[in-house]
Amino acid sequence: MDRIFSGVQPTGNLHLGNYLGAIRNWVTLQADYECIYCVVDLHAITVAQDPDELRASTREVAASLLAAGIDAKTSILFNQSQVSAHAELAWIFNCVARLGWLNRMTQFKEKAGKNRENASVGLYAYPNLMAADVLAYKATHVPVGEDQKQHLELCRDIAQAFNSQYGVEFFPLTEPLIFGEATRVMSLRDGTSKMSKSDSSDNTRINLTDPPDLIAKKIRRAKTDPEPLPGSPEGLETRPEAANLIGIFAALCNDSVEDTCRRFDGAQFSKFKEELADLAIAELAPITTEMQRLMDDPAYVDSVLRDGAERARGLAAPIVQEAQEIVGFLTS
Ligand code: TRP
Repeated sequence: MDRIFSGVQPTGNLHLGNYLGAIRNWVTLQADYECIYCVVDLHAITVAQDPDELRASTREVAASLLAAGIDAKTSILFNQSQVSAHAELAWIFNCVARLGWLNRMTQFKEKAGKNRENASVGLYAYPNLMAADVLAYKATHVPVGEDQKQHLELCRDIAQAFNSQYGVEFFPLTEPLIFGEATRVMSLRDGTSKMSKSDSSDNTRINLTDPPDLIAKKIRRAKTDPEPLPGSPEGLETRPEAANLIGIFAALCNDSVEDTCRRFDGAQFSKFKEELADLAIAELAPITTEMQRLMDDPAYVDSVLRDGAERARGLAAPIVQEAQEIVGFLTS
């Protein structure tokens, strides 16, 4: 069976964008793949972290994944730092990847900003660690958002460079799985900027922890324009807020934007928003409830992560040991 690996940052406040863009797809993939899902705490410390917050966010993200339907028995869910194979393989990849390749990474440029000299070395080498995450399991497919495509290409470059440097056919060239509609959920207040947990206004996003009445309120207050809804996607081109809401609706009912436009052709936003709120609440309320239950039982969440780490170690250790032997390390 093909093997999926994907990682999610331990950040608090997961929102509808995370859910529709990643989490929900992860749940669906479980039917067809062997799935390994990782809360990437090693990646998290490439920028400053408060230790208590990191612990709490790691649990919170794990709880949301479980609440959304990740099955910790058939899939593997763990936090990255607890499987040392990731860091071990990342070091080897630090010595395979070239400075020139990493210099092209747009995410580093964005995250480091103007103060590049002060960015951590870890932030710079982040894509090497990401390649190690994937290749420690010889994963065949990686579901990611658009923003991680470049890192996945680097992962393939590293696999290829390793194979050719050592004259082996060892690491696979992993395929990205980029998801379609509504993978980019935008702010409810500005259809041109991404829904984000770091936006200072909470009204711009629907958090997975929001109770139903708050979800309804945020949708009712979402920014719109004065026109009625268009009958086809072309009518959305210059209307980012309408496009965003229609996109969310389409994603929530697994429909195309085209069909959704047809359904609401000429409708007023007020009526559309009512249906959108009902739909969002129907999908999110059970997750919110289950997440709350799990957050009240941290010992259980920790035990799931512990068990996942143990199984992940079992898969990664022999692969990384073989890589070490290929490199010429004397293994014991
Ligand atoms: N870099 C990814 C992100 O920020 C998270 C991640 C880490 C990841 N390791 C990975 C994703 C391996 C896919 C595969 O979203």
